[in-house]
Amino acid sequence: MSVRATELPKPYHQAVERWRDTYLPDYDLLIEQWDRFFPRDRPFRLCAYRECDSCAKIECGERKGEEKYVQVGEMGSDQAGHLLNAVRAQASTEFGSIQQHQLTLSRAQDEQDQFWILRMMAEELRHGYQMLHLLLDDDWSAATQRSGADMVEEILSMRTGSHLLGTFNIDFDSFVDNVVFCAMIDRVGKYQLSMQKVSAYKPMAESMPEMLREEAFHLAAGVLPMRRWAEQAAKDSVYVTMAMMQKVTNKWLPRALEMFGHEQGGATNLRYGFKPMVNAEAQQAYYREVGRVLQDLNLRFIRSRVPELSHGEAVALCRRVAQDGEVVRGIGPEHLLRQPHSEFFRRRGEPAFSMVGFAGETFDEPETYLRHVLSHLPETYAAGRDFKGYATLLHQVHSGQLEAQEAARKTPNLSRVGGVCPCSRAVRWVAGVESETVTSIGAC
Ligand SMILES: [Fe+2]
Ligand SMILES: [Fe+2]
Repeated sequence: MSVRATELPKPYHQAVERWRDTYLPDYDLLIEQWDRFFPRDRPFRLCAYRECDSCAKIECGERKGEEKYVQVGEMGSDQAGHLLNAVRAQASTEFGSIQQHQLTLSRAQDEQDQFWILRMMAEELRHGYQMLHLLLDDDWSAATQRSGADMVEEILSMRTGSHLLGTFNIDFDSFVDNVVFCAMIDRVGKYQLSMQKVSAYKPMAESMPEMLREEAFHLAAGVLPMRRWAEQAAKDSVYVTMAMMQKVTNKWLPRALEMFGHEQGGATNLRYGFKPMVNAEAQQAYYREVGRVLQDLNLRFIRSRVPELSHGEAVALCRRVAQDGEVVRGIGPEHLLRQPHSEFFRRRGEPAFSMVGFAGETFDEPETYLRHVLSHLPETYAAGRDFKGYATLLHQVHSGQLEAQEAARKTPNLSRVGGVCPCSRAVRWVAGVESETVTSIGAC
C-alpha cells in the first residue's frame, strides 16, 4: 500500500493555517501534548493523503468495469457537476464541524475526552484540506466557471449558519453535544466515506482510506465517553445522565438521517459510479447501526447497575424493560435509551414537516406537536434559533402557506451580505433558500 502525502500550493496552505488559527486556537496545544495522549500514533500533519494503489476500474453504475476517471475533464458536465457538489458539501461539513466543536470544547469535565475531541477537530481540518486538494488539483471547468481559488475562498469563509448542510449550522450547547455528535454525525461520515471509497473519480477514491481510518477514531471519541457515562449513570452519577444523553441524541439523529439526502434520491450518484448505494439504503443501514449502539449503551447501564448478570440475562432484562415497559431490579424504561422514530422531528426528505412523534405516533396540531418535540429535546436547544426556525416553517406548512418540500429547502441561515471578503463580519440571519442541488451529502 503506497500513501502519498502532498501539501496545497503555499498560499492555500497558509490560508488553511490562518483559518486554523481562528477556529482551532488550541491546535498548538494539541501538537505539544500529542505524545502524552497519543504516544503510539503518527504525529499529526496538515496535508492531503492519497492511497495510490486503489481499484482502477469503476465499481458500480452504468460504466462498471471501465477505467476510473483520473480527471474531471473526462466526464460530462452533469456528471462533473454532481461530483463537484459532493466535494463542496464534504468540504463544508469538515470545516463546519470544527466551528461547532470549538463552541463547547473547553467545557469538557475530563481532560482526555477533551484532547480526543481536539484531535478529531484537527483531523476534520485535514479532511477539509483533502477536499480543497481535490478542488485545486484538477480542472473543474466541465462543472463550473468558478476558479479553484474562488471555491476555496467560499468554503473557508463559511461559518456556523452558512454551511451547505443544516446539521453544520446548529450550535452546540454543552460538551455532551461534542461527544454525541461524534457518535451520531461522524457515523454518517463513515457511511459517506465508505461509499465514496469506490468513487468512479479516482482521486476521490484514493482520498478515502486515510480519512476512514481517522473517522474510526472520531466514532470512538463519541462512543467511549457515552459508554463511560452510561456506566457511571447506573451508579447514580449526576454528571451526565441517561436522560441527558437521550435528549442530545434526539437533537442530532433526525439531522443525521437527513444528511443521507432525500429518501427517493441517490440513483444518479449510483448510475454515475460515485456511490454504491442509493440514499434510502444507506440511511436505513445507518439507522439500524445506531439502534445497536443504543442497545449496547443500555446493556452497559444494566450490567453496571446489576454486575452479577450475564450478557444474556442483561439482554433479557433490557427487552422486558424496553419493550414490555416493566420495572426489573429497579431499572425502568426511563433509565434506558430509546431510538427516536426515523420520521421524528424531520425537516428534510420524505417525512419533512410531517408531524410524527418520538414513538411513531402522529399529531394534527402544530402547537401540540411542537410541545411534544420539545419534551424530547434539551431545553437549551429549544431556546435557540434553529428550533425557532423549524417551528416557524412547521406553522407555515400546516397553515397551507408553504409546501413541505418547499419548506425543506428554506432554512433560516446566516448569509454574507455586503462584500465577499472572508474577514468581513457583514453577516446576518436571513430566511433564504438553500442551494437546490446541495442539500445533503447524498444529494440525488
Ligand atoms: Fe471528517
Ligand atoms: Fe469525522
